[in-house]
Amino acid sequence: MSVEEKFGQLQQLAWTGATGPGGGQNDLAERAARDGRLGSVLNLYGAAHTNALQRSAVEESRLGIPLLFGFDVIHGFWTTFPIPLAQAASFDPDVAVADARVSASEARRNGVHWTFSPMVDVTREPRWGRIAESSGEDPCVTARFAAAKVRGYQGPDPYDLSGPDRLAACAKHFAAYGAVEGGRDYNTVDSSWQRLRNVYLPPFRAAVEAGAATVMAAFNTVSGIPAHAHPGLLTGVLKDEWGFEGVVVSDWNGVHELVVHGFAADGADAGRQALAAGLDMEMASTHLAAHGPRLLADGAVTGNRLDDAVARVLRLKYRLGLFDRPYTDEAATPYEPTTRTRAMARHAAARCAVLLKNDGSVLPLDRGTGTVAVVGPYADSNDLHGTWSGPGGTRFPATSVLDALRAAAPSVRFRHAFDGPDAVAAARAAEVTLVVVGEASSLSGEASSRSDLRLPAGQAELITAVAATGRPFAVVVAAGRPLVVEEWIDRVPAVLLAWHGGIEAGPALADLLLGDVPPGGKLPVTVPRSVGQLPLYYAHENTGRPAAPDRPHQPFVSGYLDTEHGPRFPFGHGLSYTEFTISGPTCATRETPVAELAAGRRIEVTATVTNVGERTGDEVVQLYVRDPVASVVQPVRRLCGFERVTLKPRESAPVLFSLGAEELGFLAADDGALVVEPGLIDVYVGNDAHATAHLSLTLTG
Ligand code: BGC
Repeated sequence: MSVEEKFGQLQQLAWTGATGPGGGQNDLAERAARDGRLGSVLNLYGAAHTNALQRSAVEESRLGIPLLFGFDVIHGFWTTFPIPLAQAASFDPDVAVADARVSASEARRNGVHWTFSPMVDVTREPRWGRIAESSGEDPCVTARFAAAKVRGYQGPDPYDLSGPDRLAACAKHFAAYGAVEGGRDYNTVDSSWQRLRNVYLPPFRAAVEAGAATVMAAFNTVSGIPAHAHPGLLTGVLKDEWGFEGVVVSDWNGVHELVVHGFAADGADAGRQALAAGLDMEMASTHLAAHGPRLLADGAVTGNRLDDAVARVLRLKYRLGLFDRPYTDEAATPYEPTTRTRAMARHAAARCAVLLKNDGSVLPLDRGTGTVAVVGPYADSNDLHGTWSGPGGTRFPATSVLDALRAAAPSVRFRHAFDGPDAVAAARAAEVTLVVVGEASSLSGEASSRSDLRLPAGQAELITAVAATGRPFAVVVAAGRPLVVEEWIDRVPAVLLAWHGGIEAGPALADLLLGDVPPGGKLPVTVPRSVGQLPLYYAHENTGRPAAPDRPHQPFVSGYLDTEHGPRFPFGHGLSYTEFTISGPTCATRETPVAELAAGRRIEVTATVTNVGERTGDEVVQLYVRDPVASVVQPVRRLCGFERVTLKPRESAPVLFSLGAEELGFLAADDGALVVEPGLIDVYVGNDAHATAHLSLTLTG
């Protein structure tokens, strides 16, 4: 390969659809493909389209190296599944596997080889619009979903991605993008290594261990060094420590933005620093291709680093089978969701919803009810796909909640009004009312940070007006993030948080509201009382002056003068239409030598969950640990295991958790070594982050 051809492999250009400044590089891409100076294209799909461009690269360029087609398949291609945050709320990684498998099959058969997913950024910032793309605030949940999605996209063998149902995955954004200050997108991140190691990096490690073919650098700086040119992260941790052999791709224009950050003098300097730090492919900006050959000639970049980056890109193409089969079978292209994929999306969406409150069992609705009012701006809305929904999001509208209810309960009279006096009149005339409120899909996602997390204008007023009728009602919230609900939550008997549930959101909600499917999702994020409390998350440190939860302000403790301490709803919270008790935890071994844990021994802890109500329901049994005395202050608790179970009335089930060094220790800030210290470990089991059932284990020296 010539030097120009090598740098060409490190270039990714964008087809028409831009996701940032400077998009739509079609002419440039066509020319570069023919000249053999292009590695990859993003945002082009459709077998006929990708094949046409592929032909230029394979049949007209000197070496005939095939192109790699990348695309953001975030929660569906044709069949839109719930947003990733909602998927995390299922506490059921099989939901992510289902999304990833359907996405992989639909996208790959449409010419796409590579998805820029999963997003595995832990985030404690609901102001950040991209929380919708994340799995929320917890490293354990995020890591489990990261691995599930990677396996779903890539299949069981990460070295063979050649099948027509396989997509190369991309764990993004490396690293700590979820920690942007103030939740403002693209903003600065300042993070200790202790927090990187123990909070932000573990989900990436889980993705890499699951075989993720690629990793994307983050837009943000990390303690002053932009992630795109961070040798400690890209090479030190990712490639050297973790042995990652895949491709590190830049984010959109991320190499160029090194100049804007004030880190590189110009484009050449930006390309030099990014490549040297460990970046392998440049998306959208063109500094490596433009300046690389001269940088190499001047000795500013090394031939070894260049060859390593090129080898990584070629290896990915090889794993995808592109050297044998560069073209996509146009006869086998799917153009729409199928009955089967819709059923999967419906099942998924129902598992994702979180029943926050259900006083007096307003829900589920009785099919014998005469009239139900279904009011509010999202009652008859198709805007339920959520952010970054892929081509299916525009082509196949979601069924509204109203239409789905009408189809599912033809004997009930459903009366609809958008809002205002009509909605209140409908509520007055009905036996029960559903108020369907929320955020438009465009209010979350990239570049969609909000400083006010209340419902958009007029919606809280609608809820209050319906409440004033004195008639039974429930609120359904469709949103891309946890919202602040203080203005109305105490006046509302029942609230179902539906998130943005995708193409089948409406039918899935009908299943839940009519009680055909039991709700069982849990919050993967803390719901704050006010924006002023942010960041608010369950795995915080104790401080020297902790405040008692749910109490008004006390003097000289860590709290606010003007709000109760703690969340409105804790992490892990969610109800079903029945009640559960969780007993235990029990453990046969109370004392374990640290050395045995280090050698791989695991401790089994059991909890027993019982459905003590009258209906079949779902519960997520959660296990938290706390190390109360450690050489680095540990969080008040950390989730270390969870399992979702479905139980019939009076049925019980044991839930087994296995704790090893990884669960009971922490990672050292400097070298990432696993540290397990002698002493007590408190273990809690329950159904949210406030779980109280407890036992203590002793780790001996
Ligand atoms: C986003 C990435 C995305 C890329 C390509 C960027 O703006 O940050 O998450 O994969 O665009 O569309």
